[in-house]
Amino acid sequence: MELMVLQNPLSDECLAVLRDHRTPAGAFRSAGRRISLLLAAEAGKCLATREAPVESPLESTVCRTLAQEVVLVPILRAGLGMVDAFLELFPDAEIGHVGLERNEQTAKADSYYCKLPELAGKQVFILDPMLATGGSLAMAANVVKSRGAKSLVAVSIIAAPEGVRKMSEDHSDVSLILGAVDRELDTCKYIRPGLGDYGDRLMGTN
Ligand code: PRP
Ligand code: URA
Repeated sequence: MELMVLQNPLSDECLAVLRDHRTPAGAFRSAGRRISLLLAAEAGKCLATREAPVESPLESTVCRTLAQEVVLVPILRAGLGMVDAFLELFPDAEIGHVGLERNEQTAKADSYYCKLPELAGKQVFILDPMLATGGSLAMAANVVKSRGAKSLVAVSIIAAPEGVRKMSEDHSDVSLILGAVDRELDTCKYIRPGLGDYGDRLMGTN
């Protein structure tokens, strides 16, 4: 499994804001959007390009343009907080949605929604800020693969080692792009030190 973890002072700063329990909703959303932009720039490195002739005002030249269509698949709800940043870099991307919610007692994900565009031949980016046990992401990867996705990258802001391990065992063909890998999961399957519940902090629920 290919694994890339951001090494960037800008992402460190965003993580500090996101982790701070005093951060209000507006600053939380803004930091999530900024680190998602850095992750999106990394994700862009996976895209295939092709040569394209271009007439500049001075002469003919050969440029490279994107050769693959992009589909963003945010895992509801928290993945929605990453979509705007990805659209900034992939403005023509199609968007599919997979709705998953962890059961609070078992920490196992239940599926409640799925709407996807055609995926065959396209570059699919699954977006979910938190990779904890890996149950949600592994389930989402199964869903998009069953709908024809072959070229698949998962992007998360914070991961636990347990989630990274699950993805390498269940989906070694899926690349991971991460903002940080934290120490561990606690007994409630929350990432430590983590940032708490991303979906609740993003949406103002609890
Ligand atoms: C959170 C998070 C991931 C999942 C990660 O979602 O956004 O989707 O948990 O945990 P896992 O790796 O152990 O599966 P949650 O189920 O809380 O739903 P929400 O985004 O609607 O808040
Ligand atoms: N989901 C979150 O939002 N946070 C965690 O720490 C684990 C799962």
